[in-house]
Amino acid sequence: MQTDFLIIGSGIAGLTYALKIAQEFPDKKVTILTKTQSDETNTKYAQGGIAGVTDFDHDSFDKHIKDTLISGDGLCNEHVVEIVVKEGVQRINELIEWGANFDREPDGDYKLGKEGGHSENRILHHKDVTGKEMERALLEAIKKAGNIELISHCFVIDIITQHHLGYLVTKSTPDIECYGVYVLNLATKKIEKIAAGITLLATGGNGQVYRSTTNPAIATGDGVAMLYRAKGRIENMEFIQFHPTALYEAGVRGQSFLITEAVRGDGGILRNAQGEAFMERYDERKDLAPRDIVARAIDNEMKINGTEFVYLDCRHMDQEKFLEHFPNIHAKCKSIGIDVAKDMIPVSPAAHYSCGGVKTDEWARTSIKYLYAAGECASTGLHGANRLASNSLLEAMVFAHRAYKDSVRLLNENEGQLRPETAIPDWNAEGTTAPKEMILITQSLKEMKLLMSDYVGIVRNNERLKRANRRLDLLHEETETLYEKLEVSPQLCELRNMITVSYLIVKSAELRKESRGLHFNTDYPDRNTILQNTIL
Ligand code: FAD
Ligand code: SIN
Repeated sequence: MQTDFLIIGSGIAGLTYALKIAQEFPDKKVTILTKTQSDETNTKYAQGGIAGVTDFDHDSFDKHIKDTLISGDGLCNEHVVEIVVKEGVQRINELIEWGANFDREPDGDYKLGKEGGHSENRILHHKDVTGKEMERALLEAIKKAGNIELISHCFVIDIITQHHLGYLVTKSTPDIECYGVYVLNLATKKIEKIAAGITLLATGGNGQVYRSTTNPAIATGDGVAMLYRAKGRIENMEFIQFHPTALYEAGVRGQSFLITEAVRGDGGILRNAQGEAFMERYDERKDLAPRDIVARAIDNEMKINGTEFVYLDCRHMDQEKFLEHFPNIHAKCKSIGIDVAKDMIPVSPAAHYSCGGVKTDEWARTSIKYLYAAGECASTGLHGANRLASNSLLEAMVFAHRAYKDSVRLLNENEGQLRPETAIPDWNAEGTTAPKEMILITQSLKEMKLLMSDYVGIVRNNERLKRANRRLDLLHEETETLYEKLEVSPQLCELRNMITVSYLIVKSAELRKESRGLHFNTDYPDRNTILQNTIL
């Protein structure tokens, strides 16, 4: 298969780019690939909303920029922060034009929510199901575009570069080029090659490397792992954001249900096992301190009290308003016997967002030619050491737009033709056989999640990181052996990718000899004076 623009991922980043590029070039072919159903993305689960300055009477770009920089703890790229905050408003307006609905006050103004680290109310939202509403609007707009093909259940295995043409490609090879991808078509069970003029990585996050995460099963860091195998640049992988308040349900593994930070924005209070509102002991901003601070405080309270959760108390809140703003949370709590008017909600931190990822420049260009990255898989410089709440949907749209702008420039410079067709070899599956049992994969997966949660979680130290590294080494070796012998499956590819991503997190954490933002190492509790990103 040959396409002009290939997009890997059908979340907010991939769909935004697809809509724009398809509209610009109606005669060109735009193809979106997604590994499960088209709407199964991190985007769909976003609750709180999208941050953006829309109320200029109370808010300003400067305030949003300042809040983002404070949260990023010295490592944000200030130029990028300014770009995202200022261009974000236009992107939000486009989303509204594509049909996304945000809640409004009776006078027609947008209802603006508040979350941790924001000095003003600036979060546009659709009740507590903002992402679902955005994904719906974007997918409907995609259906109407004539030149976009969205192929679901198509698992991308690897990015094709000169390496696949028989050349030696290393990290120092200049001008590595992306020619397209190899994919496992789950309908035909065949591995196909897709040649593309321009490719966009929009593969989302990697929360699934941890035992407890708010991310759905698709969030296995495939894009980052593929880019690393292709010898591209990755940065700041140690900065994994743990959301302070995932619903605690004994025995539930995989995806945890999120209790949006907007609940604390509306007045929810965290309490420990004794019922004490403990946040004032940790930060003057109390329950609305940035996420790294709140998550560490909860972690500490759980350790002191020997509990697996703390409580989020909403009993004092206006219950009518709670139901109106958070119907999804209300219904979920009710379904497990929690009446938010009478009972406190048990919550604990869960892996939520990857601040680092594929290193991109201000036009979403990766270190590989003809390959862009946007959304959660990218590291643009916006988040630094800690993402400000609700900045990621905004970032994804801004950089999808910038990738589109730069793709147009590239095409125009080359008079509509990127390069002659390249003879890409077929996938070589020689010598592989069907797996006889899955236990070798599922057990390794369990081990990986456990070691990442226990050794590379909210609080780290050198000994834990060293142990994690050793164990990952073994898992890597065993999984590579399986990969050489077995027919490719999504389960095996995801395990392989997650081991790579885990390694990148651990390696970056080891390189950072300080505590900053989301990375807290008890052996180096202070900040360094030298500010630097970890690049692998
Ligand atoms: P995603 O939306 O995750 O899409 C990834 C796509 O890539 C999927 O289609 C997937 O199938 C595809 N893919 C991945 N690997 C492959 C492969 N190998 N082959 C083919 N396809 C592949 N952010 C905010 O700003 N505000 C919020 O309120 C908010 N709330 C959140 C709540 C939850 C519960 C979660 C989990 C996240 C939240 N976030 C929020 C973060 C935000 O939702 C994500 O960062 C953002 O949606 C990521 O969008 P994306 O387009 O980069 O990736
Ligand atoms: C939330 O609603 O609390 C999540 C917001 C985010 O991750 O940005």
